[in-house]
Amino acid sequence: MKAVKVREDLFWVGAIDWNVRNFHGYSTVRGTTYNAFLLLDEKITLFDTVKHGFEEELLKRISSVINPEKIDYLVINHIEPDHAGAFVRVVQAIKPEKIFLTRNARLGILAHFHQESFPFEEVKTGFEVRTGKRTLKFIETPMIHWPDSMMTYIPEEKTLISQDAFGAHYASSGRFDDDVDTCELIQEAAKYYANIVYPYSPQVNKLLQTVKEMNLEIEMICPDHGVIWRKNPDKIVALYEKWSSYVCDPMVLIIYDTMWKSTEKMAYAVMEGVFEESVEVKLCKLSVADWTELMSDVLQSRGLVLGSPTLNNGLLPTVSGFLTYMKGLRPRGKVGAAFGSYGWSGEAVKLLNQYLQEIQAEVVHDGIRVKYVPDEKVLSDCVELGRKVAQRVKELCSA
Ligand code: FEO
Repeated sequence: MKAVKVREDLFWVGAIDWNVRNFHGYSTVRGTTYNAFLLLDEKITLFDTVKHGFEEELLKRISSVINPEKIDYLVINHIEPDHAGAFVRVVQAIKPEKIFLTRNARLGILAHFHQESFPFEEVKTGFEVRTGKRTLKFIETPMIHWPDSMMTYIPEEKTLISQDAFGAHYASSGRFDDDVDTCELIQEAAKYYANIVYPYSPQVNKLLQTVKEMNLEIEMICPDHGVIWRKNPDKIVALYEKWSSYVCDPMVLIIYDTMWKSTEKMAYAVMEGVFEESVEVKLCKLSVADWTELMSDVLQSRGLVLGSPTLNNGLLPTVSGFLTYMKGLRPRGKVGAAFGSYGWSGEAVKLLNQYLQEIQAEVVHDGIRVKYVPDEKVLSDCVELGRKVAQRVKELCSA
């Protein structure tokens, strides 16, 4: 297990987790990586560690370049266990002179590992540390991804070590964006944003503004998951600008589930209406959906149409479960509408409309509910609903 040279004196020394398929509920269909970086200078610095279980892989990769005991500084950009799970083992192995981290990171590390005697040194945005020929500039990024998070910028290398931000759960033999399939990479980066970063979009937007104000020249972005952006770092920055501003694509996503196919018939009729307006449409039945994948479509779709039959005065459990997950990720900027069938009480459409309002969607139709089975008139109304959503999506996306 060897280190990979990233730039002069900078090495990737992380771990590849090819087989992880469930990352606290996130379906990591392509595995992931836990990236750590080693900078050789007068003061040798390690940036982040790895998940517990991958300590030896990290230490072997470091050992392919230097004796780990020669490391002087450890920078902890983020304390979530996928990056700090190996913290104690690594500190014991490298015996650093200093461990740089934010105040929240120190409190978090102590709450996890209870190691008061380690040589912690708290840093804030604007703090700088010289390693010899280079400078480490710290930028606090609270809530991207946890309250403790920060990034480290190395101006002499025009390199940003960005912890979770700009990452992707994507295991590959290539370490760089130009080593892998671009479409796959962007797909995984979008999925990562939608399922991890989306709730913190206002903070991302502010961070991007700060980076502009600081005039940071960035030739390379080294995130803690997935590949290093060396060929086209501007691409992922532009996507983060788009996603964090809730700019969506002209697409309508119909998310529904069904008991006896009545709500499904309505879903297909809504889809026909969107087709008629020549707007891209995706239809997703929640009983067979992968929530993680679906959130990428939520991130990117301007239109969001929800369907559920009424069950026990509420929504189908598959629908209510996904809606709870989606609400926590705080989607914004949607054009919405709802539909569903019922037998006797029929609350589902009202509940779906309330949900759309809670996520601040623009609701463009009162919603359609039908007792038992939709007839031709109801299906025709569903087509009209689809058309109405698609028309508004076109208006907003062309504005
Ligand atoms: Fe990859 Fe928030 O940890």
